[in-house]
Amino acid sequence: MTRVLVLNGPNLNRLGTREPEIYGTATLDELRDELGAVAEGVEIDLRQSNDEAELIGWLHEAVDARTPVILNPAAFTHYSYALRDAVALVTEAGIPVIEVHLSNPHAREEFRHTSVISGVATGVIAGFGFGSYRLALDQLLRRP
Ligand code: DQA
Repeated sequence: MTRVLVLNGPNLNRLGTREPEIYGTATLDELRDELGAVAEGVEIDLRQSNDEAELIGWLHEAVDARTPVILNPAAFTHYSYALRDAVALVTEAGIPVIEVHLSNPHAREEFRHTSVISGVATGVIAGFGFGSYRLALDQLLRRP
């Protein structure tokens, strides 16, 4: 494994100032640096989009390049069947996709208790802030 795609969905470009009491005050650039510091010899390709189609395109790219994915689908978690189908393409190809969340959606509003992504993801980590991503990366780095 030489590269990990770290894909982030809508509104996560506002990390740092968006609902800091829930998501903290650190930015996506800081997340990139934090993951880069522990990913020896592995490129952290961190991207963010507010556009469902762009995220789907990146998941197709993961299939073609056989790149493992850490995915925070953000609000798309709760209703995007198109994103779910794209995640299924990746995992059905034998490539891991770990769904991550900064917050614990199960401890929040009812509509956040449903993830249409989890059923096709390799695993799910939620509730640990940037730690959710670090744990996911740690798991990917352990895989043969
Ligand atoms: C989130 C949780 C989602 O419910 C929410 O829409 C987000 C962020 C998280 O990381 O905790 O945008 O995925």
